[in-house]
Formats: sequence, C-alpha cells, structure tokens
Amino acid sequence: MLQPGLKLYLASEITPLWLATENFLEQHNMAPPFWAFAWPGGEALAHYIAAHPELVRGKRVLDFAAGGGIAALACARAGAASVEAAEIDPLAVAAIKLNAKANHLQITPLLGDVVGAPCRWDVILCGDVCYEVPMTNHIMPWLMSCAVNIPVIVADPGRKYAPSQGFEMIYEIEVPTLLELEDSASRMVRLLRLQPV
Ligand SMILES: C[S@@+](CC[C@H](N)C(=O)[O-])C[C@H]1O[C@@H](n2cnc3c(N)ncnc32)[C@H](O)[C@@H]1O
Repeated sequence: MLQPGLKLYLASEITPLWLATENFLEQHNMAPPFWAFAWPGGEALAHYIAAHPELVRGKRVLDFAAGGGIAALACARAGAASVEAAEIDPLAVAAIKLNAKANHLQITPLLGDVVGAPCRWDVILCGDVCYEVPMTNHIMPWLMSCAVNIPVIVADPGRKYAPSQGFEMIYEIEVPTLLELEDSASRMVRLLRLQPV
C-alpha cells in the first residue's frame, strides 16, 4: 500500500472472499465487497492528501463512495474540520467505522445515496467511481454541479467511463495493485479536478 501509516481492515484472501460473497450477494441482490479492498483511486487520494494536507485542513470533507474509507481516513489525519464518508453499502459503512476506530480518527459515515443533496461540504473526493455506466451516469451530473462551487476531485485509475473532458488533471501517480483485482501489477491514477463549463 502507498499509505503504510493508515491501518485498514482488508481482505487477505481476495478470490475466496469475492467468490463467496458474490454468491451470497447475488442471492440477496447486494453489491460485491468493494469495502474489503483499498482501490487504486482511494490509495492515490490518500497519498495526495498526505502530501497536500492544505486541501482539506480545516474543511468539511465528503469522501463520496468511500468503500472502506481510505481517503476519509487520510483527510481526518490531515486535519479536516469534519469528514463524512458516503456509502450505499451497509457493510462498507461497518468497515468505515472499524477503520476509523483502528486509526483513532473521527469519521461520520453516511449510509445511503447523497446524490442530489445540497452541497454542504468544502471539498468532495471520489476514489474509483467510473467503473460502470449506470453509476457514472447517476453521479457525474451531481458531482459536476457541486464542482461549480467547491473542489471536486475524482481519482481515476483508467476506468472505462471516466470523463474525457470537463476536468483539470492535478496529479498522476502509479499505484501498485493486486493481480486478482486488476489486469496489471500497477495502475496509473489521475486526479481529476472537475471543471464545469
Ligand atoms: C470501487 S469502490 C471505491 C471505494 C473507495 N473510494 C476506494 O477508492 O477504495 C466504489 C464504491 O462506490 C460505492 N457506491 C456506488 N454507488 C454509490 C452511491 N450512489 N453513493 C455512495 N457510494 C456508492 C460502492 O458501494 C463501492 O463501495
């Protein structure tokens, strides 16, 4: 991991967990265990925030689609005034609470879909959120509308549905990945600050 300073409850045996939960989740119409991994987008965000704490220090931050909350943890550590971590998956919210406790950091998990909510944050961070068409189409118009007033940063490791315009690339980093999850041993992650036209 890029951020050895943060403790995270992560899966140690990836494939069995994914397959086991996939069967269960399919039967119960639930999502795969995204929360059990730090995705390259979240890792890149955590790395960037550690190097640029001024982005979040004293600010009200939203880690949108937080997974296990790696970016939220980095923001809390960097001195954000408040950190909310939004997730639609209740298991992810449980993971966020455990990870916050393990790091002695204060994070408020938000269970549910905040898309469309009035923007009450100073910064929104989104790690690895453009991997499916329906999700991308659902979230991007709202993120773009928030970006009119505040920095909204999407960390994209080359997912198919990432925006091709309407952003400024502020950072790029190579993140080591797991071959069981990705098709390569590392991914270049770009941090895209959304810029509505
Ligand atoms: C690939 S994971 C990325 C997790 C984390 N940001 C990271 O980089 O490690 C994408 C996450 O988006 C969450 N998600 C999908 N749609 C969402 C929505 N409308 N609101 C909040 N979370 C959402 C999923 O539950 C999943 O945990």
